[in-house]
Amino acid sequence: MVQELRQGEEILLPENPNPNLKDYEEARRTFKWEDVEKEFTWYHTGKVNMAYEAIDRHAESWRKNKVALIYVDREREVKYTFAEMKEHTARVAAALTSLGLEKGDRVFTFLPRSPELYVGILGIIKAGLVAGPLFEAFMETAVKDRLMDSGAKALITNAELLPRVPYRDLPDLEHVIVVGAKDLPPSDGKTKFYHYEELVAKAPRDFEPVWLTREDGMILHYSSGTTGKPKGIYHVHNAMIQQYITGKWVLDLKEEDVYWTTADPGWVTGTSYGIFAPWLNGATNLVRGGRFSPDDWYSTIEKYRVTVWYSAPTAFRMLMGAGEEVAKKYDLSSLRHVLSVGEPLNPEVVRWGYRVYKQRIHDTWWMTETGAHICVNFACLPIKPGSMGKPIPGVEIGILDDEGNELPPNTPGNLCIKTPWPSMFRKVWNNEAKYQEYFRFPGWYISGDVAMKDEDGYYWFLGRADDVIKTSGYRVGPFEIESKLVEHPAVMEAGVIGKPDPERGEIIKAFVVLREGYQPSEELKKELMEFVKKGLSAHAVPREIEFRDKLPKTRSGKIVRRVLKAWELGLPAGDLSTLED
Ligand code: WT7
Repeated sequence: MVQELRQGEEILLPENPNPNLKDYEEARRTFKWEDVEKEFTWYHTGKVNMAYEAIDRHAESWRKNKVALIYVDREREVKYTFAEMKEHTARVAAALTSLGLEKGDRVFTFLPRSPELYVGILGIIKAGLVAGPLFEAFMETAVKDRLMDSGAKALITNAELLPRVPYRDLPDLEHVIVVGAKDLPPSDGKTKFYHYEELVAKAPRDFEPVWLTREDGMILHYSSGTTGKPKGIYHVHNAMIQQYITGKWVLDLKEEDVYWTTADPGWVTGTSYGIFAPWLNGATNLVRGGRFSPDDWYSTIEKYRVTVWYSAPTAFRMLMGAGEEVAKKYDLSSLRHVLSVGEPLNPEVVRWGYRVYKQRIHDTWWMTETGAHICVNFACLPIKPGSMGKPIPGVEIGILDDEGNELPPNTPGNLCIKTPWPSMFRKVWNNEAKYQEYFRFPGWYISGDVAMKDEDGYYWFLGRADDVIKTSGYRVGPFEIESKLVEHPAVMEAGVIGKPDPERGEIIKAFVVLREGYQPSEELKKELMEFVKKGLSAHAVPREIEFRDKLPKTRSGKIVRRVLKAWELGLPAGDLSTLED
């Protein structure tokens, strides 16, 4: 397949006359991380806090009246300067501190994209606490698992989402701060409830950031693997080094830019590149709330003269599906740099973007675990549509075989990264064994992706080595969905796989074995879909369900998803010698 993609050897040449990173090869030869460190205040003072570097530092400079945040949705438009962001985040930090929360405590947000969410995350970090952003679409089980595992002590949420917070079942959750509530549940001996508005209004507008070291905790993102519940990927303040420099090199942020990423802070793109990278670079950062809509999205670019736009293949495919005519209704001429992340960016989409937006879409590869960009298409280099480009200066990628030996170019293997890099995750929360699994090859981090490098040093994504599913850019673990399905009284066993889909990348398909006394039916399928939606979230719903008499299993009883996949795709199932009968 990759050969096919490469047959045309088509490339798109650089068009940006003045990119921040001008000479890639030179930077790879000469770049040192220490050069970036010198640009931070802490390099000189020894006092570290992301919120200071991203907000306060600018608020204390000539940028103080520059717009930092533009928040828009169908109802409102809110703009905050860096000085205002400093004050708002100070109030949140002071309020949290007044509740007795201390350095390292986990404080979660469960909010839709809104000014309160962005202020909240930075306020948490300013107070020396570890922020845990939850995606607003999560249902009760998903919320509970994450708050429970992290031992979160406080939560900032809103009145609509509060019913999905099972606070009585969360022994560590002491404080729940609610935006826009009329009434609050009665505080009991364990959990106290607060009106966000009151708490923040009472708090002082001056708050000296809690000073930390570079290795103190900053953010905890839950992300899926193949087995077990989502894991807490823990990042420390040191990540800012790489987030800052990739904001400069890869997003190519300049002083006059209006930058927009469509990603939600519930996912790592929405924090690393929705909060940290843009504000570390002093950029004007636009946030659009609400759901995907081609007209709303294009009119956002037109109205706010967005210059740098970071989205995902699934969104670009949907915009493509909406048709060229919709794009033509709007003036998109402000765009100068467009990027994509989350799943493979189809060459077809790159070609379409080039024709319709007159923009090269720059694919970027990285993961929750990497904290920042690793392999990208730079503004200064030619783009080979279908390739995810080259490693950033200061980072080395290896393609390794299953024993950990490096492979030559044009050979598919495990995509690994030489350890360490500044924004590397520092633990899997509560699970050191899981953390160590990533580092089985000495000196390397194993990504779980299969890729290869071509003779020009470009990397090509080939697939996942494991069963992780990527649907509409969301990373979903099959195990979590299987576990939810078997909670339903009709389900004896379930096996879940990703099935290729032209728009969503993959859709979730479940193979289900029913218990005695239950008959397969369309209604039952609908009921199971609804059950997963209510229990986990809409993006975890299997869009296809197939009933089977039994599932392929190893002798030790593990469902073999590789065989399910082969069934689905009509491919040979491979070696079956370790399966039961
Ligand atoms: C997995 C990580 C980090 C931002 C969002 C995703 C897949 C990510 C690409 C790309 C092909 C990609 C990989 C990776 N992925 N970017 N440019 N081309 N695949 O973060 O949820 O942690 O998922 O997403 O499979 O391992 P994530």
